[in-house]
Amino acid sequence: MIESAKVTAASTPMGVVGLGLMGSSIVAALLIAGHPVQAIVPIPSDFDEARHRVARQLRLCEQAGLIDSVADFDERLQITEDYQTLAGCQVVIECVIEKLEVKKEVYQKITSVVTSDCIIGTNTSAIPISELQQYIMGPERFVGIHFAEPAYMTRFLEITCGRLTTDHYAQRIFSLAQGMGKEPTLLKKDIRGFITNRLMYAVYREIFHQLETGHATREDLDKAFRYDAGSWMTLMGIFRRMDYLGIEDFGKILPEVFSKLSNTHSVPQEMKEMVEKNARGIHNETGLYPYQKGEGKQWDLSFSQFNLEIHRLAAEFSEVKIKEQLSQ
Ligand SMILES: NC(=O)c1ccc[n+]([C@@H]2O[C@H](COP(=O)([O-])OP(=O)(O)OC[C@H]3O[C@@H](n4cnc5c(N)ncnc54)[C@H](O)[C@@H]3O)[C@@H](O)[C@H]2O)c1
Repeated sequence: MIESAKVTAASTPMGVVGLGLMGSSIVAALLIAGHPVQAIVPIPSDFDEARHRVARQLRLCEQAGLIDSVADFDERLQITEDYQTLAGCQVVIECVIEKLEVKKEVYQKITSVVTSDCIIGTNTSAIPISELQQYIMGPERFVGIHFAEPAYMTRFLEITCGRLTTDHYAQRIFSLAQGMGKEPTLLKKDIRGFITNRLMYAVYREIFHQLETGHATREDLDKAFRYDAGSWMTLMGIFRRMDYLGIEDFGKILPEVFSKLSNTHSVPQEMKEMVEKNARGIHNETGLYPYQKGEGKQWDLSFSQFNLEIHRLAAEFSEVKIKEQLSQ
């Protein structure tokens, strides 16, 4: 079993509502960290598919060496359509589709059964926490708990407070996340896009801008990002990278380059066209690149394997280990 999967926190009864791509992966993440999980399938006709999806995530954990056997989890996992089973949970994470009216209805069902100090989290990628919080009875216990896929493997976990969230609840999630082997971040104010998406949106805007100028191809733009940023990002982050390169040059270059970057507010034409034709990238093999049949699934599988390697590498070169080596 690899280091981060070991149980380091006392187990906490947790609930997950919505067992799609992320919900099923979050269930696996909670289980392998030692927590009992009540998993709710909000649409009864999805029940079998949801069960298969969770079982598949656990099999992937087993293949990745994160757990010894899938069978170990039968006692700690209940998958059901019945919200009443959330009654004993200390934390419930909502993971349903990104539609306000659907989330609102789900919150009503959750809050009608849990205790008043049960923390309610959302895995939303984009809806402001302060906005969702309005629909929670006891909004101070509502927190953004944003995982990255696959949730059982990635170290990323972004915790976001809404306007009314009390620090005490966010800190509780922070400790739980550390116990799960995550490297959590805490954003005390829910700025639009949170931390990581906001950084990436700046990159998306600039990459479309460069593509539209026609000076470089899509393939070369991606290649530059993969083999430059991709070679140092997990080790250093961006500020450490600037330290590594030496600060001096940035003082001269930034004022020159900032004024040349795109600051457009409009959606790139190509993205508009993709949305119009219902392109879902690797999920329906229609996207910014062409796909052969089965290639989307292969990208998904390769990403799971890659994540395992990155997970191991990141543990080997953590900040703590670098500081330990200094004192040897
Ligand atoms: N996909 C990602 O990589 C990713 C990453 C981070 C955060 N998120 C966020 O996680 C949440 C779920 O995303 P996903 O990718 O797992 O979506 P998904 O489409 O795979 O699953 C969504 C789930 O929502 C539920 N659902 C659908 N319609 C519903 C309804 N009318 N009432 C109640 N439940 C309903 C179903 O259980 C479904 O399985 C979203 O808020 C999304 O923004 C996704």
